[in-house]
Amino acid sequence: MAGSIGLQLCSAVEEREERALVPVPREFQSRALIKSREQYEEMYKQSIQDPSRFWGKIASQFYWHRMWDTSKPVFRSNFDIRQGPIFNEWFKGGFTNICYNALDKHVNEGRGEQVAMLWEGNDVGHEMRLTYSDVLQKTCQLANYLRKRGVKKGDRVCIYMPMVPELPIAMLACARIGAIHSVIFGGFSAESLAGRILDCKSDVLLSCSAVQRGAKVLNLKVIVDEALQLCLEKESFQPGTVLIYDNKNAVPRSKVKWVAGRDLWWQDEVRSCSTVAPVEWMEAEDPLFLLYTSGSTGKPKGVLHTIGGYMVYAATSFEYVFDYQPGDIFWCTADCGWITGHTYICYGPLLNGATQVVFEGVPTYPSPSRWWEIIEKYKVSIFYTAPTAIRSLEALGDKHVTKHNLSSLRVLGTVGEAINAKAWHWYHRVVGQGRCPIVDTWWQTETGGIMITPLPGAWSLKPGSATLPFFGVQPVVLDQDGKEQDGPCSGYLCIKGAWPGMARTLYGDHKRFAETYFTTWPGLYVTGDGCQREANGYITLTGRVDDVVNVSGHRISIGEVESALTSHKLCAETAAVAFDHDVKGQGIYAFVTLVEGAKPSEQLKNEIKAAVRKEIGSFAVPDVIQWAPGLPKTRSGKIMRRILRKIAANQFDELGDVSSLADPAVVEQLVEGKRGGA
Ligand code: WTA
Repeated sequence: MAGSIGLQLCSAVEEREERALVPVPREFQSRALIKSREQYEEMYKQSIQDPSRFWGKIASQFYWHRMWDTSKPVFRSNFDIRQGPIFNEWFKGGFTNICYNALDKHVNEGRGEQVAMLWEGNDVGHEMRLTYSDVLQKTCQLANYLRKRGVKKGDRVCIYMPMVPELPIAMLACARIGAIHSVIFGGFSAESLAGRILDCKSDVLLSCSAVQRGAKVLNLKVIVDEALQLCLEKESFQPGTVLIYDNKNAVPRSKVKWVAGRDLWWQDEVRSCSTVAPVEWMEAEDPLFLLYTSGSTGKPKGVLHTIGGYMVYAATSFEYVFDYQPGDIFWCTADCGWITGHTYICYGPLLNGATQVVFEGVPTYPSPSRWWEIIEKYKVSIFYTAPTAIRSLEALGDKHVTKHNLSSLRVLGTVGEAINAKAWHWYHRVVGQGRCPIVDTWWQTETGGIMITPLPGAWSLKPGSATLPFFGVQPVVLDQDGKEQDGPCSGYLCIKGAWPGMARTLYGDHKRFAETYFTTWPGLYVTGDGCQREANGYITLTGRVDDVVNVSGHRISIGEVESALTSHKLCAETAAVAFDHDVKGQGIYAFVTLVEGAKPSEQLKNEIKAAVRKEIGSFAVPDVIQWAPGLPKTRSGKIMRRILRKIAANQFDELGDVSSLADPAVVEQLVEGKRGGA
């Protein structure tokens, strides 16, 4: 007994040490953009008390074809449904173009020869350098082509591509002509792609023949064909233009199935287009892009961002959070299919005129050193990645990292999920050699940019904590009853007041937007995350409070997974829950009840997993399927997920009171099943 108490004390001490504050190195601080918490507090105060002055000054550094009405406040908003419709408008009346600010402005100011993208392909030796002039020319060519195909301001363009330079170029080309891009991550299935094309009735699909992911080839065009077939079957709809980038490295043209009269080869079509294309001047509140994300209910939501506020927020957060300074080489390992790739690959770095690495491949191909090799090769100074990747690379051993010269690094970042203290310390010690601050950045697809984060030179870090709000962001922590709490506390994280980068609506469904984010506690934006706040103001995220799981930083709806599981004809009923996973952060554990007479088997489990792969994509496939003769339900028929979570986590002693269930015996069966490996 005494031994076990001793052990507990010991791990509590370890835990305290692991989470102790880590001060910013002096050397870093003296050169940082924001050098102290006091300097931050001063700016933060101004951003809240006088947003017009704060954001107006920053926004005026961009090119505006026509200024917004500077006699009025820079924004107007309403977050209180009791007062009328939810809205948020920034720089209203101003006209600009985000592509112009990301490309032309730098070229016009004499920085055309500066490298914008250091593209590194899946295979070693396959690389490309694109200057700002190169990117501008390629963007203009595609913009001209899209115009030729009849694409106009406000039209939707779906983009389903791997991380070739043409992906951000396609986004920029849309922005240039005022079309709304909707990027669909290349890991999504045909069903998901079709759903997204149909939801916004996009008349153009930009895609690619295939892509190499490590040693594997993924035939995107096959998925495109299937998706377009589904569009026809479901709604007799077909995009008028299907432009396919010929990725020769992955698959030769001759091997690509072609639908004559519908499919067009990107390179053939675009080559002859002019490299100069006029800009469509856009109103600040015109839509820029749609990005579908998962919510607690099944159907993905088309989060819509507009131009002016997003532009200003993306650029400003990039600069301060990463302490970006001219000469830095930035690398964000995300994919443009997610919000991180939108804001911190496509827009933020280019708006700042930065040079960045864009990587097509995976961290462990051809060897577990690939990422570290790239950092050494391009002398990357700011590196931004996901905790799940850090954990999986940590597991492969330090030697892959330490054999490379990583002395160019000065800032490290993480995004997408909480980082556990152990992985944080490994990242800090082995990758950052104890020298580089880590910015643990909390934000969401809906927030447009980073919201809670350390500023790397300004205050001490705390492993696992996102620390303090960015300029203009007012987090509040609510208790169970929705009461705003002061001082140290834990509860629901909400945001008070508008910020420029916030999503304006859900595409075609403003009612759902208001209901999802603004109804639970009128007057506040509800994030769906829980958090703890300490006496020093530091905020630590504690995970989702709704039915959303975060697997390897991918946001997945439990409802969507369940409906994919039940798409298998032998599944009668399912319930999926999250469980802690060493590498992925969270994994998905599915309980499945089969239809009468169906025989459980390993093969059937695989078939059911394949149904999820088909409906959503590989990243959403449950890690575990357990057969469930029945599911624990209340007498009113509600599934008790709390109990299922405990079973999935082997916490059989913590099941709580099960007597109120319609059939308490079900729980015992499930526990037995879990113990016996059902
Ligand atoms: C989670 C990704 C803890 C959170 C940019 C949020 C995080 C969801 C962090 C949004 C972090 C993101 N610490 N949790 N630093 N960053 N999350 O929309 O649950 O793909 O609500 O945006 O990821 O995921 P999304």
